[in-house]
Amino acid sequence: MLGSELSLQSQLSLEGANHKRASALRTALIDNLWLRRTLDFGRLEQLRTSIHQIDDLRLACLRRMPPVTTDYFTSGAGKEITLRRNQLAFERVVLATDYGNPVDQVDVCTRVLDHELAMPILGAPVGSLRTLHPCGEAVAMAAMGELGTAGILSTLTGTTMEAVKRATRGPAWFQLYLCGGRETALRGIERARRAGYSALVLTIDTPVAGIRMPDKYNGFNDLIAGRLLGYLRAMPSMLSHPRWLGGFLTDGGLMEFVNIIDAEGRPMPYTDIASQLAQSATRWEDIEWIRRAWGDAPIVIKGIHTLDEAEEAQRRGAEAIVISNHGGRQLDRVRSSLETLIEVGPVLRGRGTKMQILFDSGIRSGFDVAIALALGADAVLVGRAYAFGLGAAGGAGVVRAFEILRDELAHTMRHWGCRTIEQLKKHGERFVSAPTELFPGGVPDTLEPRVAAHRSRRQG
Ligand SMILES: Cc1cc2nc3c(=O)[nH]c(=O)nc-3n(C[C@H](O)[C@H](O)[C@H](O)COP(=O)(O)O)c2cc1C
Repeated sequence: MLGSELSLQSQLSLEGANHKRASALRTALIDNLWLRRTLDFGRLEQLRTSIHQIDDLRLACLRRMPPVTTDYFTSGAGKEITLRRNQLAFERVVLATDYGNPVDQVDVCTRVLDHELAMPILGAPVGSLRTLHPCGEAVAMAAMGELGTAGILSTLTGTTMEAVKRATRGPAWFQLYLCGGRETALRGIERARRAGYSALVLTIDTPVAGIRMPDKYNGFNDLIAGRLLGYLRAMPSMLSHPRWLGGFLTDGGLMEFVNIIDAEGRPMPYTDIASQLAQSATRWEDIEWIRRAWGDAPIVIKGIHTLDEAEEAQRRGAEAIVISNHGGRQLDRVRSSLETLIEVGPVLRGRGTKMQILFDSGIRSGFDVAIALALGADAVLVGRAYAFGLGAAGGAGVVRAFEILRDELAHTMRHWGCRTIEQLKKHGERFVSAPTELFPGGVPDTLEPRVAAHRSRRQG
């Protein structure tokens, strides 16, 4: 972040003693000055020479941030078996070719719900992006708009949905959790409608917050609850990242959920979220009142793990589903989302359903995107891939993440002789052979280095 941005931002944040004033000041900041600069295209040129794959962004993000923050983004539930399975599933797929019918150019534009997008890759809802970068949700959404694609704003964010919507030139969807109960959700739906969000994404796979070991080891909950122990534990790693700490504090420090407003007009504190999620699990019947409140605009059901769930979403009138296991963050040991897609995709496509099939969980390259589209997805969402970009280099990092995914997708299409996304969806299956049993002997224990380190530290 530029020095002048930081000082202006700090003045504004510190001026706002109460929530309403602080929120208004942050909004003014986003609307007017700082946001446009964070998309800094000089920085993007630099990234183009040094960042060539999503993993480069992950490593750059890990270097810039304290582990208490990055662990929250990288980790999965339990022993992270599903987290690994999501990525390994893509690696088990074998690609074929049919050379001799080359295409000169490829076009990766596509239509998702009512939008013409520049690529079949959307930004998944990711909570707490402000901990990666000041005004992170608005910065990320603005970057997606610049690239001509859509982003989905999580309920669990610290920047008002109105400011985030104004920040982007592209389409924005709103992801809904029913935290705080029906009345609170209705207020959120009404605000999202008025602010111009064009689809509502209802996440069904979070009846309770995921259990993530790194967060437990790091005392993440103590920290967000403002307990002394939490601060004492996290302080050394925070102090050793002064640049990040400066940005975090001047952006207001620990955030409140300004898009979950109670009857008295107060935002939900960060600390209440786990208990609120557990009290407000989504039921299929909820779709009825949500539809009445939301109107005719599309409803997307996210968190589909089985064919039964996909069919139920269709019966309930969803315009799209997201086959997703939340990036392996919810229930550990469920199968990878790619395995779900392999089962569900052909059945739904075979019936000629109008409901669109979106996919996420485990995508780290444009080759993965091509595989998902070939196996039945209309478009994909990515979560960590762009979050790493945001942490590594703000808005420019998000742009770079989507560029990499888009270019690798286009590259694969050249090899397959597919000129358009329509052709890829129609003929792609013959280029992708996925064994019916992707993991006959279980998932190998190739732990991410960070989790392995965590474990070995714990084991003494
Ligand atoms: C740090 C983090 C926070 C997330 N927060 C939300 C959320 O608030 N709502 C939601 O529906 N999904 C959330 N997700 C799940 C993503 O929308 C998406 O399903 C997942 O990231 C896809 O897997 P990938 O990270 O491998 O791309 C979150 C994911 C991450 C990594």
